[in-house]
Amino acid sequence: MKTVTVHASKDYEIRIGSGLIGTLSSPQPVFDNAASAAIISDDIVFPLYGEALQRALEAAGLTVFSFVFPHGEKEKTLSTYARALNFLAERRLSRKDLVFALGGGVAGDLAGFVAATYLRGIRYVQVPTTLLAAVDSSVGGKTAVDLEAGKNLAGAFHQPSLVVCDTDVFQTLPEEQWQSGAAETVKYGLFGNAAFYRSLRETPIRDQLEAVIGTAVTMKRDIVERDEFETGERMLLNYGHTFGHAVERLSGYTLLHGQAVAIGMASIARAAAAYGYCSRETALETEDILRRYGLPTELPFTASEMSEAMKSDKKADGGMYRLIVPEAIGACRIISVPAGEIEGWLTAGGAK
Ligand code: GLY
Repeated sequence: MKTVTVHASKDYEIRIGSGLIGTLSSPQPVFDNAASAAIISDDIVFPLYGEALQRALEAAGLTVFSFVFPHGEKEKTLSTYARALNFLAERRLSRKDLVFALGGGVAGDLAGFVAATYLRGIRYVQVPTTLLAAVDSSVGGKTAVDLEAGKNLAGAFHQPSLVVCDTDVFQTLPEEQWQSGAAETVKYGLFGNAAFYRSLRETPIRDQLEAVIGTAVTMKRDIVERDEFETGERMLLNYGHTFGHAVERLSGYTLLHGQAVAIGMASIARAAAAYGYCSRETALETEDILRRYGLPTELPFTASEMSEAMKSDKKADGGMYRLIVPEAIGACRIISVPAGEIEGWLTAGGAK
């Protein structure tokens, strides 16, 4: 097992290894004073791993309730969030009790936001079951639901009390979930670690899973410790997301988050090369590694469709967009681009 410790507004461990869900049957420091736990999960993940988690927590002496919602980004809404809050209130969970987020990015973001706001905030444990959640969304305390106007527009920063990344659960991941997670993993190499990028080119993620998750979350930990509330450096973690969120939304969420982010990274790299921030080779290398992991790289929407969809993004600020642009593989910078120039960037990025 690997352990990475985060020192942010709350200190916590990220544990990575095989068989970790079962280890929760022994009392953990984070269970101290808790009588009950609510598992929040979706209807694909819960039948696979919910019972094992529930059995472990019961063996550790907790009374366990499970809130299971229909899977998919379309459920990351205020209405699912309200149902989960009412579920906790009806079962009289107290401030000392715990929420367990069991699943991918949607379950983690939703359960985290429930934990951030129920009784003004209770502790929660992230149990990521997708590669994407393991390398990114389960760490760092961003929680949110989507609004009709856009993704993640209602949320809070609320750090988990523990992250338990049981690598056994990835064995049942469908191929497209591996691809989606690969995009967020490759992102770390592209924006900040050329050696990691090379290792992901040379050895498939599945063949070095524990090491890959360890490197990604250590990079994320270091950034979150320096900039927990995203006033600067943490924005680098949004590489590919400014265009990617618009792609995800325009696809009607038929593209998975990582697939949309892959298109976002490839597009911004092409545009950055056209605007002289990086070489053409950097853009080609970006496309190449994404394709190796089966990810899409072409932007299937027009510049005007994209700029319209980007208007509600959090990264639009006072008529300016923050773009994360590559200077080389493993080095990115944050620039501000006036809204009036964004269609030019999208066209240079390959918009239809
Ligand atoms: N997923 C980007 C971040 O946590 O900052």
